[in-house]
Formats: sequence, structure tokens, C-alpha cells
Amino acid sequence: MKRVYKENQHGTKEQCIFSEMMNNERLPLLERKLGRLIDDAKFLLGAGTDAPSQAMAITMFHILNNGPVYQKLQEELNCALPEPQANPSLVMLEQLPYLTAVIKEGLRISALVTSRLPRIAPDEILEYNGWQIPPGTPVSMSIYLMLRDETVFPEPLVFHPGRWLEQGSNLEKYLVPFSKGSQGCLGPNMAYAWCYLGIATILRRFMLSLFETTEENMTIVRDCFNGQTKPGYNNIQVKVLAEFTKA
Ligand code: HEM
Repeated sequence: MKRVYKENQHGTKEQCIFSEMMNNERLPLLERKLGRLIDDAKFLLGAGTDAPSQAMAITMFHILNNGPVYQKLQEELNCALPEPQANPSLVMLEQLPYLTAVIKEGLRISALVTSRLPRIAPDEILEYNGWQIPPGTPVSMSIYLMLRDETVFPEPLVFHPGRWLEQGSNLEKYLVPFSKGSQGCLGPNMAYAWCYLGIATILRRFMLSLFETTEENMTIVRDCFNGQTKPGYNNIQVKVLAEFTKA
């Protein structure tokens, strides 16, 4: 099969997910057929847009709903990005401790995926903590409950970015919004990149306030794979109070 590459504006050949899949001899032919690739493309579009946009919106709500957090974040961003119009680099933003803490806390508190993600070992007996789990038994944990476990995250419903600065790496292993392991989410790096770039760019350019949006617009009451609010409440509105780009 001929290798298909997309050329970017500089004439350099770029790899993309689908050319890699089509050309990967290790994948069974069935998984390289058009129908299968279309299914994967649809899944990628859903998985790669719904969860990250919801996580960013929920994080933004908590920033704007929490004066001291908003102020501290603005101070850090103003200092790191003296020119509000400049496009920040991801590498630079990743070094900002408070922005990093805010993003982690946003991913924790949004706890987007509420459904359990069972795995089944078809042929082997799993051993765990003295238990033997027979082949064919679905086994799962709950991301939602882990991210809201008060023994790990005291006051779990409170948006408190400081917990990541105080306890930092001790908490890291409990931050599982993307699940873990070989079947885990494909896009954590991309999701983090969007959160850094999106949140920093918007907050450096605009002064915002919430508009007709309350905790009720955040409260998850239904498990629809991604947790959902009461019908009709799944939206966050803001007002632009000032634009800094023309400073
Ligand atoms: C905040 C953003 C995101 C969250 C919270 C999230 C969460 C998750 C979770 C919990 C799973 C299930 C993993 C499992 O079964 O163990 C998953 C699967 C997946 N996600 Fe994400 N995701 C996010 C962003 C993205 C992005 C940006 C992409 C793609 C660009 C993406 C692509 C996928 C794909 C392809 C799978 C299926 C993986 C597989 O079954 O092998 N996700 N995601």
C-alpha cells in the first residue's frame, strides 16, 4: 500500500494517525479497511472534542467563581506574558506552577467520565490483595469516585488548586481523569496542551465574569458515560468585562 502523507505549509511531510494506521503492517487488514477507519475517525472526533471542551469549561467556571484563584492566576499570567496579544508557547506555560495546579484541579473536580470501564481477563485467574478473580469476571474502578475520595482529596467538592502545590507529587498517582494503562485515553497530552493554551490565552486577553451560571450548571446528576447536569443546565455563560489586547 502506498504511504499517504499530508504536506504542511513548509512543504514538510507530516505523519497523521490515519496514514500511520493504514500503513502499519502489524495491524490486521480488517482494522485497516475503510469502514473501520471511519469508525475510528468518528470516535476520535467525539472523544477528542467533548471531554476536553467540557473540562476546560468547568475549569473556567471554577476560576471565575473563585476570586482569589482568579486573581492569583492573572498575576502569574501577567508576569509570564507581558504582551497580552502574544501567542504563548506551551513549553513556557507548562513551567507556570499556579496555572499547572489550576489545570490539574480542573481535571480532578470535573471528573468527567462517570461510567465504570470494566476489563475482563478472558483466560487467566487474577490475583489481587489475597483475592482470586476467576476468568471472565468484569473488574473496574470508578474514576469519578477516585477523584472525589475525601481521604485523598479533603473537601473534594471544593476547587482548591493549592492542594497540588502543597502535596504535589504525592497526589499525582490519584489524578486519573484519563484512566490508566494500555487501554487508557489516547489524548492526555493533547488535552493538557489545549487546557494550557486555551485557558492562558483567554484569561490573558479578556477580563471575564460569570453570567447566569451557578454551581447547578456544574453539578453532575446523571451518568451518561460523561457525567451530565440536569437536562438544560449543561452550559456556562460569561461576560467580557474588558479586553487587554489593546493595552
Ligand atoms: C479532558 C479531556 C479528556 C478526558 C477526561 C478523557 C478521558 C478518557 C477516558 C476516561 C477514556 C477511557 C479509557 C479507558 O477505557 O480506560 C478515554 C478514552 C479515549 N480517549 Fe480520551 N479523554 C480526554 C481527551 C481526549 C482527547 C483530546 C483525545 C484525542 C485527541 C481522546 C481520545 C480518546 C480515545 C481514542 C480513547 C479510546 C482509547 C481506547 O479505547 O483504546 N481523549 N478518554
